[in-house]
Amino acid sequence: MTAQIISGTEIAKQIRQELKQEIAGLRDKYNLIPGLATVLVGDDPASQVYVGSKARTCEALGVYSERHDLPAETSEQKLLALIDRLNKDTRIHGILVQLPLPKHISEANVLYAIDPDKDVDGFHPVNVGRMMIGQPNYLPCTPHGIQELLFRSGVKTEGAEVVVVGRSNIVGKPIANILLQKKAGANATVTVCHTATRDITFHTRRADILIVAAGKPKAITADMVKEGAVVIDVGVNRIGKTAEGKAILCGDVDFDAVKEKASAITPVPGGVGPMTIVMLMLNTVKATKLAVGLA
Ligand code: GUN
Repeated sequence: MTAQIISGTEIAKQIRQELKQEIAGLRDKYNLIPGLATVLVGDDPASQVYVGSKARTCEALGVYSERHDLPAETSEQKLLALIDRLNKDTRIHGILVQLPLPKHISEANVLYAIDPDKDVDGFHPVNVGRMMIGQPNYLPCTPHGIQELLFRSGVKTEGAEVVVVGRSNIVGKPIANILLQKKAGANATVTVCHTATRDITFHTRRADILIVAAGKPKAITADMVKEGAVVIDVGVNRIGKTAEGKAILCGDVDFDAVKEKASAITPVPGGVGPMTIVMLMLNTVKATKLAVGLA
């Protein structure tokens, strides 16, 4: 079997169009402009790329955006003061603090400090708790993007055996939680594998839907995948540079071999990545509506 390639780029484009219309409607009907503030501490090149593409997407969709790029040595106190200011700023509906933060800053303190109503990343414990009990305000962007990719590609999750490889707070734990909710587009039987799992292949070979966020290039090989499975690759690994200095990326799945076995698979790049940013825009629009009682 040769897999259908699930294009996150194409699906993200459709959602962008839908959002662009909604944002134009908010502006024309209510004089409302969604506003997003991004905060980046330090000069990690990958984080700079992510923050830059968020700003460009805001501009393309008609979202007001503010970039706060701070030096690596910024104190936690200074960062918390900025968050406090953004929490109070009525032009700003969403606040995103790019992770990871430098080691001298407590990620927990920072995530707690963001007003849960402006937490468009869905990382504040209030929003994590709301997701857990099936009453989300904001779902975290990457897992929400995966759910939307599956849904819009016609992949049925109801009753499916879903195996997640990886248990991060950003991807593994939330996607497992989202897909086990008793809801349309979810309702799956979910297994989560991690670094202490005794026999990962035993689990991955049972998966109807295999979601991989392991952070290890090509960790999932063809022998680990069931014939006809749907494979979602969340990995973004930089494995070298082209002659022009552009990063060469690969996922956590051995794409070329696994695509011969799977029924559908996401590529890297062009799979899950583009979905994350549009889901951030979706959350920012929701935050804007919530702020004025429209949602
Ligand atoms: N770093 C890696 N993924 C993410 C994300 O989704 N949000 C933020 N804020 N930082 C990240």
